[in-house]
Amino acid sequence: MKYHIDFDIEFKRNPHKGLYIALEGIDGSGKTTQIDKLFEYFKKQGREVVKTREPRKDDGLIGELIQKILNGKTKVPSIAIQYLFSADRGMHHSELIEPALKAGKIVISDRCFWSAVPYGILDLDQEFDPNSARYIMVAQSILSMYHQFITPDNTIYLDIPVERAIERLSKMTHEKEIYEEKQKIKKAKEGYEWLLKQFPEEFKIIDATKSVEEVATEILSVINQSSSRFIKKLDN
Ligand code: TMP
Repeated sequence: MKYHIDFDIEFKRNPHKGLYIALEGIDGSGKTTQIDKLFEYFKKQGREVVKTREPRKDDGLIGELIQKILNGKTKVPSIAIQYLFSADRGMHHSELIEPALKAGKIVISDRCFWSAVPYGILDLDQEFDPNSARYIMVAQSILSMYHQFITPDNTIYLDIPVERAIERLSKMTHEKEIYEEKQKIKKAKEGYEWLLKQFPEEFKIIDATKSVEEVATEILSVINQSSSRFIKKLDN
């Protein structure tokens, strides 16, 4: 017997003076490089800016556990993985993001709750299909993505073909993580594409195949355009 579960959820918007920016994209899309550049840009402007990431990896009990799972050193049932990310996120928001936004700072985050959908579907065995994406989205929504965690004021999606992302990852020296495999990256990209169609208003898509400088300029122009009221708010 099948049951149908459906509901409406309001997104939780940022009620604070600070500005919340998140970068999203598949592994190897260049988020970390661009976050560093954005951080330096705001610092040079003399703004109070906080750089952070989800998951927090080496930070705190859950972050450390997630890092071990990502490195394949600890195994947990795949159904449990995204719940750990959500638990880490809950602590991250109350310990770092919300206080920083309340204090009027700019928060730049490498990933946010949106990653839970494209990566959550990787924990299911089958090929990408919209039903499994919807299933993960509903599961994660019940767990509070939209209504308990503040949605970033700006979510930038760095768009890059899978092959290019893999090429970049192969040049990196970090320890390989469980999601960094071609088939998984391909499926995560399909998940993102599905997500971008579901929530077109929530993402700004940027072509991440361009040079680092070009991508950085485009990110800044998107942020300056859509966040001018926040930048004004920060200046008051
Ligand atoms: P990275 O950001 O350094 O690439 O590593 C984080 C990994 O964790 C990445 O493969 C995406 C994954 N992830 C999830 O599976 N769920 C989440 O909610 C988040 C934030 C990340």
